[in-house]
Amino acid sequence: MTSYLTTSSPRFSAAPAMAPRYQDLLHRLTTAARTSIGFPCAVDIDYRPLGPLLGVLLNNLGDPQVDGIQPMHAKDIERDVLDFFAALFRAPAGWSGYVTSGGTEGTHYGLWLGRTRLPNAVAFHSAAAHYSVGKAEHLLGLPSVTVATLTNGEIDYADLHRQAARFRGRPAIVTANIGTTMTEAVDDLHRIHQALDDAGIIHRYVHADAALAGVPLAVTADRPAFDLADGADSISISGHKFFGTPLVCGVVIVRRGIDEPPAAIRYTGAPDTSISGSRTGLGAVMLAHALDVLGPSGLSERTRQARAVAAYTCRCLQQIGWPHWRNRDAFTVMLREPPASVRVRWRLPSSNGWSHIICVPGITTHQIDDFISDLDA
Ligand SMILES: Cc1ncc(COP(=O)(O)O)c(C=O)c1O
Repeated sequence: MTSYLTTSSPRFSAAPAMAPRYQDLLHRLTTAARTSIGFPCAVDIDYRPLGPLLGVLLNNLGDPQVDGIQPMHAKDIERDVLDFFAALFRAPAGWSGYVTSGGTEGTHYGLWLGRTRLPNAVAFHSAAAHYSVGKAEHLLGLPSVTVATLTNGEIDYADLHRQAARFRGRPAIVTANIGTTMTEAVDDLHRIHQALDDAGIIHRYVHADAALAGVPLAVTADRPAFDLADGADSISISGHKFFGTPLVCGVVIVRRGIDEPPAAIRYTGAPDTSISGSRTGLGAVMLAHALDVLGPSGLSERTRQARAVAAYTCRCLQQIGWPHWRNRDAFTVMLREPPASVRVRWRLPSSNGWSHIICVPGITTHQIDDFISDLDA
C-alpha cells in the first residue's frame, strides 16, 4: 500500500479549471478594473508567467539575510530585490530591510525601530498621513501628535516646529508622507529636520512613508528630499501600488539594522528580525519579476508616461471647465467632487468636496476620455 506520506504529487488536486465561483470572482475583478481609476494599483505588468509558483510553498521565514533550515524560500531573490531598493533609496552601508506584507507593515516596522532606539519619544505625523500611521503609533504605545497640513496636503513645517517645541526635552519620531493618500503631496525631509532643529529636538527618528510615490520620485531628475541620503532613517513602499503586484506586499529599508540582533531561532535556523515572522516569498519574486520586465530604463519611462496621462487628465478637465489641480510630478489629479453616479461608477474616493483620479501606469487616455464624457454628461 502506498503511504500518502510518500506521495509526491498533491493529494487534493482540484479539477484543472477553476471552480465557477472563482471564475465569477475573476470576471467581477477584471470588469471592475476597467473603471477603477481612484486607487493606486498599476495594471500594466503581467505577472501570470509566475503562475506555476502557486504549486509550491514560498515562506521567507524570518530574516532575509539568513537562509535557515526550512528550504521552501526565495530569500536569494529577496536579497536581490532589497539590494535594488537600498541602492534606489541611497541607503548607506550597513542598511537592512525586508519584503513586507505592504506599506502598513513597513511603517509599523520603521516606527518600531524608532521606538526601540528612542524609548521616551513622542510621535508626529501630519493630518494627511495614511490611517496606518496612527494605527502603528497606537500599537506601539507611542504618544501621538497630529500636525496641520498646507493646502496642498504637505506637512505644515511651522506647525511641526510649534508642536515639537512643546516636547523639547523628549526625542521625536516623525513619519513623513512621501506622497499622501489623497493629494500625493510630498513632505520635504530637509525642512522637517530644520523644523526639529529649530524646536531644539536633538534625538529623532524619521520614517518616510513612500507607499506609492517613493519609486517614481527616486527616478525623477529634480526630486524633493525624501530618501535615506536626505535624512530618512527608514523608508517603506507598497509593491501593489506602483508595481501593481497581484499579491499585496511592500519593502522596508532602514539605515542600520537592529542594534542587538536576535539569535537564530533553533528550529528555523534564522533570526526573526521581521514583524510577521512567516513571510510570503511570492512578493519578493513578483517584485523581482517586475524589475526584470521593466529593465533599467523601464522605471523612468513608466513614470514619465503615467505623469503624461495625469497631465492629459488635467487638460481634459480644463476643457470641460471642471475645477481641478495637481501636485508637482503627481499621478494624482484632484477634481471637484463629481455627482454620486459618476463617483460610484469610477470608484472615486472623496473628502471635503474633492475627489481624485490616480493615473498609475496602465491607466489609459481612453479610460480618461470615457470618464470625461460621463462627467460632462
Ligand atoms: C500614503 C500611504 N501610506 C501607506 C499606505 C498603506 O499601504 P498598504 O496598503 O500597502 O498597507 C497607503 C495606502 O493607500 C498610502 O496611501
